[in-house]
Amino acid sequence: MQIIRQKAALRALTETWRRAGETIGVVPTMGALHAGHLSLVAAARARTDHVIVTLFVNPRQFNNPEDLAKYPRTEESDAEKLAPFGIDLLYIPEPDEIYPEGFATTVSVSGVSDGLCGATRPGHFDGVATVVTKLLLQTDADRAFFGEKDYQQLQVVKRLATDLDLKTEIVGCPTIREDDGLAMSSRNLRLGAGPRETAPVIGRVLTTAAKAIARGENPAQALDTAREALLSAGFDSIDYLELRSDPDFQLMTKADRPARLFLAAWLDGVRLIDNVAVAGRQKVESSEDQPFEPA
Ligand code: PAF
Repeated sequence: MQIIRQKAALRALTETWRRAGETIGVVPTMGALHAGHLSLVAAARARTDHVIVTLFVNPRQFNNPEDLAKYPRTEESDAEKLAPFGIDLLYIPEPDEIYPEGFATTVSVSGVSDGLCGATRPGHFDGVATVVTKLLLQTDADRAFFGEKDYQQLQVVKRLATDLDLKTEIVGCPTIREDDGLAMSSRNLRLGAGPRETAPVIGRVLTTAAKAIARGENPAQALDTAREALLSAGFDSIDYLELRSDPDFQLMTKADRPARLFLAAWLDGVRLIDNVAVAGRQKVESSEDQPFEPA
């Protein structure tokens, strides 16, 4: 596995692969790799000839300077974790390879970026959309792999790839969870021992609420119960807990089409997010209820 920090060297390599008619997969990351990232790497290995993992802690997607400063930086152990996967390249661009002096362009995706993390982290998705566009272009990727834990991010990236006629296919991969149900995230490393034991309540509360809604319980009632459960378990505050349609993120008061529950909550000074699909029922012309498969 080569480590490259300059886009000229990256391009020289991708051009060789292109000339040989080989395909390129990319897994964009900000490092602090865990099994969730590694599942994306495995998916990329299975579906493309060459795999590039990118590692860039993107300052433009942090709306809070303290969050950026605290973001774990573990380059050496990240490289070690990738070694067994037989990937071609770890691309760790210097900041000015992404944002050279005078950089003045922002990719901004409306619609799917509104609400949820878009509302609670102003500017976050502009930062994500801008850096992902650059990484897809710099790596010349045929396919890019993103986790469903960041479900809104996945839809933002799909939208920009379609709207900007990028050739890269955006592939969503399932959320990987710890044995206790906590969605894997680099932020989990920042939880103290006690809060780390509390954190899996998120997965349980979301699954319980999703099942209750699927059974026909009023979503507002199910969400109130979930909020109370989180706060009494020790969560400090909840940025959002919402039922939204999938994949267009309309707020829903009843689950009459494919939907997901989305949560962002604070625990021990760490912001955790998660989402689960809701199996629901949709009205058909005969007015009988017809179950649908969750996305
Ligand atoms: O999900 C992430 O780690 C980041 O948002 C991404 C996609 C690598 C862009 O910086």
